[in-house]
Amino acid sequence: MRLQLALSVTSAALAAGNPLAKRAAIDDCLKAANVPVDTKGSTDWNNDIRAFNQRLQYTPVAIAVARTTEHVAAAVSCAAKVGVKVNPKSGGHSYASFGLGGENGHLIVQLDRMSKVTVDSSTKIATVEAGSRLGHVATVLYNNGKRAFSHGTCPGVGVAGHSLHGGFGFSSHTHGLAVDWIVGATVVLANSTVVEASETVNPDIFWALKGSGSNFGIVTHFKFKTFEAPSQVTKFDINLNWGSGQQIASGWQAMQEWVLAGSMPKEMNMRVFGSGSQTQIQGLYHGSSNNLRTAIQPLLSKIGGSLASAQQYDWMGAFSYYTYGNGNVDLTHPYSQTETFYSKSMVTTALSSNTMKAVGDYWINQAKRNSRNWFIIIDFYGGKNSAITKVPTNATSYPYRDQYVWLFELYDRVNSGSYPSNGFSFLDGWVKSFTDNHRGTNDEWGMYINYADPTMSRTEAQNVYFRKNLPKLQQLKAQYDPTELFYYPQAVSPAT
Ligand SMILES: Cc1cc2nc3c(=O)[nH]c(=O)nc-3n(C[C@H](O)[C@H](O)[C@H](O)COP(=O)(O)OP(=O)(O)OC[C@H]3O[C@@H](n4cnc5c(N)ncnc54)[C@H](O)[C@@H]3O)c2cc1C
Ligand SMILES: *[C@@H]1O[C@H](CO)[C@@H](O)[C@H](O)[C@H]1NC(C)=O
Ligand SMILES: *[C@@H]1O[C@H](CO)[C@@H](O)[C@H](O)[C@H]1NC(C)=O
Repeated sequence: MRLQLALSVTSAALAAGNPLAKRAAIDDCLKAANVPVDTKGSTDWNNDIRAFNQRLQYTPVAIAVARTTEHVAAAVSCAAKVGVKVNPKSGGHSYASFGLGGENGHLIVQLDRMSKVTVDSSTKIATVEAGSRLGHVATVLYNNGKRAFSHGTCPGVGVAGHSLHGGFGFSSHTHGLAVDWIVGATVVLANSTVVEASETVNPDIFWALKGSGSNFGIVTHFKFKTFEAPSQVTKFDINLNWGSGQQIASGWQAMQEWVLAGSMPKEMNMRVFGSGSQTQIQGLYHGSSNNLRTAIQPLLSKIGGSLASAQQYDWMGAFSYYTYGNGNVDLTHPYSQTETFYSKSMVTTALSSNTMKAVGDYWINQAKRNSRNWFIIIDFYGGKNSAITKVPTNATSYPYRDQYVWLFELYDRVNSGSYPSNGFSFLDGWVKSFTDNHRGTNDEWGMYINYADPTMSRTEAQNVYFRKNLPKLQQLKAQYDPTELFYYPQAVSPAT
């Protein structure tokens, strides 16, 4: 009785849009439902609101610290009742702080206390709680029969945000994106119902989750299929003496021919990494160093370079190398890594020499001549032997398949202080050197939501993140979350 009275009083205040009343109402509702929360101002609160990207810090109305699917469902139900937006936060690595809602005043469902990982000994399917970080997942999988699936390299990244929106790394040319290894999910929908989703159960929800999960629910558990980790992998580098736009265009064109001709073997995974101090190919070959040397020779002949290093590791040894840190990849709560940065991405089909020259000119004339702390990564993403682009474009809501060849990340950070306002035009200009020259149709370039750029309008962002798959996503959004409970500034909008 007392609870009901309290709720009806606050409803009146809510109707008047009183933010303090909303805060009190959400606190009351979570408490009545026995959902654990962070006390405002506590150490846990301060840790849980800390954005990985310090450029974009937001303050939630409350933080539910879920330990079970029931906690998540109750939190979603409270958000709907009180009328606040709700977002799950897994590893918290969103470039746009979308795990914090991408603006103030949301209810955050903090998932990183849910990090249990098991592997079924007969099916080899992994059950992974949605707050697990990649390094922890990789460690447990490897310790259970040397299993693995394909994903990115940073051990602190959350498995949920990463795999629900793509997930590219040094296994992706061989084995595809993290999203392609999801075979099932337990998900709390906007109406707070808990459902299973797979190819055969709720297949349209499954389709939407696989590329656009943040718009459709809160996944609490994943099922991932796994592969047997290769017994040896070889990490290698090739230095590139790229000193002019013309050199960049001709070297890069030679690499593109090698990819398109099908000469890049399936086992090869690599990228060009460029910064103020170095430009090199960095790769991970799934096989021995002898086999790498044979496989890479045709490319070296084409670009006139040589291997600067080639070092064999076991599976986890290679993973810990790419942490660039103390080698500890098994990360769970608490976690406190941050950076202050702006980043942009591109995903493109094959590029003309003109486009490569324009991008290369910007690289040399603008990037190389400033003293900023930037990098560019050109991932060898698609091509004839890539597992990613063999998947049909309509098979998942993640859209970049078929003729896509390159994935780019442009990143600019500061080591201390706040991000300078002139940083934006630096990276915006670099992306313009792509889009001015590689016009094509909408099907020839896009951007990667896992490298979210919150400076874009909602309309533009939805288009460049989802391209051909956007209309179906908007239909499904209208069906499953018509009131946009799972909202952030670049969320998929419901079809009208
Ligand atoms: C240091 C660093 C290295 C990275 N390296 C790579 C890389 O090698 N390859 C690559 O592809 N990407 C990489 N990324 C990008 C990374 O994949 C994305 O930022 C990813 O979305 C982060 O997931 P998260 O769970 O850590 O983030 P969060 O901020 O927790 O979540 C990101 C988004 O997913 C949503 N979400 C979180 N949990 C759930 C859930 N359970 N159900 C539904 N939606 C959910 C959030 O609401 C938010 O919208 C890197 C990022 C960083 C910061
Ligand atoms: C919630 O939505 C799902 C999917 O549309 C539906 O199957 C389920 O019946 C709904 N639950 C309630 C309680 O309305
Ligand atoms: C994708 O398109 C093909 C061919 O049009 C069709 O047969 C298939 O059912 C579609 N798949 C999905 C998941 O929509």
